[in-house]
Amino acid sequence: MINATNATADLTLEQQAALGSGGSFWATKTVGPAKPFTLTDGPHGVRKQNAGDDHLGIAPSMPATCFPPAVGLAQTWDADLVESVAIALGAEALERGVGVLLGPGVNIKRDPRCGRNFEYFSEDPIVSGILGAAWVNGLQSQGVGASVKHFAANNAEHDRMRSSSDVDPRTLREIYLRPFQRVVEDARPWTVMCSYNRINGVFASESKWLLTDVLRGEWGYEGAVISDWGAVRNRVRSVAAGVDLEMPGGTNTDALVVEAVDAGVLEPGTVQASAERTVALASLVEAGRLRPAGTDVDAHHALARDAATRSIVLLKNDDALLPLEPSGSIAVIGEFAEHPRFQGGGSSRVNPTRVDIPLTEIRARAGSARVTYAPGFSTQGTEDSEGLRSAAVRTAAAADVAVVFLGLGDRQESEGFDRSDIEIPADQLHLLTEIAAAQPSTVVVLSHGGVLRLSAVIDLVPAILDGGLLGQGGGAAIADTLFGLANPSGRLTETIPVRLEDSPAFLNFPGENAHTLYGEGQFVGYRWYDARRFEVSFPFGHGLSYTSFEYSALAVSAEQDGIEARVTVRNVGARAGREIVQFYTSKIESAVTRPLRELKAFTTVHLRPEESSEVTVRIRREDLAYWDIRIDDWVIEGGNYVVAAGASSRDIRQSTTVEIAPGGARVPITLESTVGEVLEIPAAAAILGELMADSTGNSDAAESALGIDLKKMMASFPLSQLVAFRGDDGRAILDRLLEAANNR
Ligand code: BGC
Repeated sequence: MINATNATADLTLEQQAALGSGGSFWATKTVGPAKPFTLTDGPHGVRKQNAGDDHLGIAPSMPATCFPPAVGLAQTWDADLVESVAIALGAEALERGVGVLLGPGVNIKRDPRCGRNFEYFSEDPIVSGILGAAWVNGLQSQGVGASVKHFAANNAEHDRMRSSSDVDPRTLREIYLRPFQRVVEDARPWTVMCSYNRINGVFASESKWLLTDVLRGEWGYEGAVISDWGAVRNRVRSVAAGVDLEMPGGTNTDALVVEAVDAGVLEPGTVQASAERTVALASLVEAGRLRPAGTDVDAHHALARDAATRSIVLLKNDDALLPLEPSGSIAVIGEFAEHPRFQGGGSSRVNPTRVDIPLTEIRARAGSARVTYAPGFSTQGTEDSEGLRSAAVRTAAAADVAVVFLGLGDRQESEGFDRSDIEIPADQLHLLTEIAAAQPSTVVVLSHGGVLRLSAVIDLVPAILDGGLLGQGGGAAIADTLFGLANPSGRLTETIPVRLEDSPAFLNFPGENAHTLYGEGQFVGYRWYDARRFEVSFPFGHGLSYTSFEYSALAVSAEQDGIEARVTVRNVGARAGREIVQFYTSKIESAVTRPLRELKAFTTVHLRPEESSEVTVRIRREDLAYWDIRIDDWVIEGGNYVVAAGASSRDIRQSTTVEIAPGGARVPITLESTVGEVLEIPAAAAILGELMADSTGNSDAAESALGIDLKKMMASFPLSQLVAFRGDDGRAILDRLLEAANNR
């Protein structure tokens, strides 16, 4: 946490202004008590450039461990592992003299086409928030600052420096701000990075509402806000909104700040408060530098492998084709087996310390099996594709089993642009179709940053392993999983739809004329597919194992700070394995539209065959709240909630209900409240009876004579208009009613 120290009181206005902008592309300046420090990307490795500076991943950088990017890491659903990875990142950052590592990215994967989804954790705010907080805690435990990004509603690459994310307040709070809030409140990141885009017309870098009122005022954030590289349009407006550090340096905007103060358009106190935060940040970095630096490259590679192993999702495994026997013959097909794709393109690109090659790792584990290889296609598109394909089909047909590596190349997805579809490249699909016809025992291994449409693949092959992007240890992790040396335990953090056209933002992505309408509202990811009852190829939370687990004895209790939920999980198969237990809630009756079910907590458990264990989670009370637009505040509705434990959003194994007391803010009852709203409040409902008796006459008689449901009919009647049907005494009853309703 950053503590205000009043360290800048003696500085001139010029010095205070100078503290608010970088000194170079990756570093701050020396001003007063603040020593300069380096900030660099992030998030899945340290990209410390040593020749040339850019934020696109072009010029070379020093070797560093390339851990799985967020798309893979999130699939572990393992906050402890994420924390360990971030501890390792912190150590590497320290060793390279980096004070702030630019991550994690906790933006929601709103649409599968977003080019940067590989850098984000999930379509779900709880998964993103919990894993993001673990990352920040791990990194900062090493004396290196995090920069949670990109704040906020930056969910597309198309036109990212201009586009306005037009999103309603409830959706913004419940879906898009929620992961940031969790990270800020649980992990206190040293910095928050504001995004390029506009939100409802206002640049994030100029939004006082976002950067000061919400972030600092409501969430109690005390750290520094830095700009994304080049996100500041107008330095004075950004300072006024709450940006403390404009990056990169070299923009020469400090004088504008001084002029604005002199002209009386910017408060001097605002500049000083901002300078205080930058000085405090510099001293945190300085303190971190005192820690001993030094990392074990081999140990970090081993951690990268372990993380990759737990990231792999077994999507399908008919007739237990996997794991493979290390005997007979195995055909390995696909260029990615030899030249793996293990990270995404753009500012996060890491220069790995080494890379495990899947083909080599498969050979090393194949025992007596004869391993053959054919590339099958070229991602460069320069070779004889017909020749490559037919050679690969012959190779696959001649073996006992084929393992086919498919996926997207760097040209097909990256930071900086979005995809226009979610297809596997046509030449690869063509190859797979021919292989599947010739070789029934075919396993597909996928490498990609954004979701791929798999409906064409599912029916072709019996087994699919999905790695997303796995970092430098992915090759070994895939080989271990193929041969059963590791039991797959990753789970999807994003739904795989049957068709792109089914996806929630299909009609509104990426938008036009620099606006993107979040028309699907809170119905993002599984919230949408469930509400629309769409079939999906693989649901959120899905993943198979070489063993299976049974759930029993779900027990829940309402506690003061939330719900405690316990469930017993038993490994009923023959192999040790890890299960990810997911807890969802639903509000049975609600005053507002809600998703069918929402993830609220999760945990992981390792079990030997026949072993069972009771797992316990705590669902936070505040996570049951919805954002009420009438009062701009969180409301916890009282009443019954379903709590369900499952192995995916569509594989619910146990469920029960629990009664929750109302809480949070209260929507006042006013003259504009309706009869239906008053009926929710027992003390007021009784008085309402008095008011309605005369205005509606004998309601039972009316109902039977007219054949109508009077209660339903009256439910949307405002109190003010009800009174209009009575004489003066109606007003007196109404006053009593309002008193009873609002002083409950
Ligand atoms: C990206 C950030 C990154 C920064 C510095 C920007 O283009 O959006 O995520 O940290 O560049 O490379």
